Amino acid sequence: MTERIESAPEWAAVRSLVKSVDLAAEFSSDSRRAEDFTMRVGDLLIDTSKNLWTREIRTALAEVARRADVAEAWRRLRGGEIVNESEARPVAHWALRVPVGSSAVVAGRDVSTDVHEVLGAVSRFADDIRSGRRTGATGQLFTDVVNIGIGGSDLGPAMAYDALRAFRTGPRCHFVSNVDPANTRAVLHGLDPARTLVIVSSKTFTTAETMANAVAVREWIVDGLGAGAVSSHLVAVTTNTRAAASFGVDPANVFGFWDWVGGRYSLGSAIGLSLVIAVGPVAFGEMLAGMHLVDEHVSQSVDQPLANAPLVHAVLSIWYSNFLGAETRAIVPYAHDLHRLPAYLQQLDMESNGKSVDRVGRNVALSTGPIVWGGPGTDGQHAYFQLLHQGTHLVPIDFIGFARPVDGDQERHDALMANLFAQSQALAFGRPLDASLPSAEHRVFTGNRPSTVILAPALTPSVLGQLIAFYEHSVFFQGAVWGINSFDQWGVELGKDVAHGIGQELVDGRHHVSDPATRRLIEWYRSHRHRSVE
Ligand code: F6P
Repeated sequence: MTERIESAPEWAAVRSLVKSVDLAAEFSSDSRRAEDFTMRVGDLLIDTSKNLWTREIRTALAEVARRADVAEAWRRLRGGEIVNESEARPVAHWALRVPVGSSAVVAGRDVSTDVHEVLGAVSRFADDIRSGRRTGATGQLFTDVVNIGIGGSDLGPAMAYDALRAFRTGPRCHFVSNVDPANTRAVLHGLDPARTLVIVSSKTFTTAETMANAVAVREWIVDGLGAGAVSSHLVAVTTNTRAAASFGVDPANVFGFWDWVGGRYSLGSAIGLSLVIAVGPVAFGEMLAGMHLVDEHVSQSVDQPLANAPLVHAVLSIWYSNFLGAETRAIVPYAHDLHRLPAYLQQLDMESNGKSVDRVGRNVALSTGPIVWGGPGTDGQHAYFQLLHQGTHLVPIDFIGFARPVDGDQERHDALMANLFAQSQALAFGRPLDASLPSAEHRVFTGNRPSTVILAPALTPSVLGQLIAFYEHSVFFQGAVWGINSFDQWGVELGKDVAHGIGQELVDGRHHVSDPATRRLIEWYRSHRHRSVE
């Protein structure tokens, strides 16, 4: 029987260290704190010094990670073993980014050749679109790409497309995810089907929203260009190549991947096709190399928890969730191009670690994954930062910023970064009561509000890859400590099943739904659905 981590003496040792940490006092008694609490991995500098912990707490948390044997969990994952037990699959997004010539053994088989074959096909296809060698049915160049997908088949490419705005050298990309027809309408408005390539991205090729949107967009192509145009305007990325073919996608235009790539970990697979078309295979390769760099860092330091940056980030998160009672974590990039990163990390973390049953099927007794939220600075300062500075919730924050803007205007960039540094400092050290001021008590900042600052020289493809892999591994290590499976997502299934039944009732009016509350809502809906909007 697997040990529950909270019964281990190492857990009790951390509990015994729970106390209020005064950051100003910690810094004044420890001149090396800023340096010693800063980690470096690749181009990332990760400063954890303004968190509510001490060296002793950090060491005790590292012992918890050792006790949970996260190193063995990592070796099993990296060894391609079946670590996603509830779906009987290995988990090998790391294999998507091994360099040519390295092996990647997944379920006893070296998959590196398959990975590079697909990457090669994706790159050639992207180059053909970018260069104009491949055109639409009427011979016109593709100027626009529409990616249809949801969850991991949308959030990664959409986030990275915005993040790498300054590296775009290809057609514009647009993303349709919501089954709300407004999404498709808004995206297609102003697009010319003759110059638009449509990518249906779906690991399963069964996701209801994506399939409904794919049908609608296929109709748009047929209406504009005729049925014969579908084969040159519609491509698919999926593990379900047969379903894509029966949907009408030319098998030559189907890019595959594998069931050992989880949706939320799939940006490095062919799911990144829209991004490859936008930024080119070279920049995409740099992103993969950045991810690999962090994978290697983790492999090399997995037996030294305090030298392993994602692991330190993970135990810090556990400290807040399980010992200090924080329920959320905010991600605040001071980089507008990263404005979709919080949503991306929300799926990565919450779909991975939002679990209440452990690997062996027992209810967990601890809080697991936090609620992840956030948005770009400085905008957040004029919205939710009031609560962060003076509210009653403990919200650890990850600030992310860069030394240089990728495309000029260092002066305004300095103003942006001044705000990042100011926020982290003001949250940590606050401002005492000044009784001479009117409403003095309202102007007090208690301080001791924690943040981690992650810096890199610039938001390049490699740095983006490093950031993504850093968070992926942090999420993995948290799950490993809690003893949960971070790679399944059964929690999304019930809603899908229920929606299916309700969908029937909305159409045929026959009562499939038994609960009276939902029944009444459906009756109201049915009685209003044909009325025009007043
Ligand atoms: O929301 C559940 C989920 O399975 C995600 O994990 C996944 O990223 C998303 O749906 C999309 O799935 P698919 O790529 O199979 O359409």
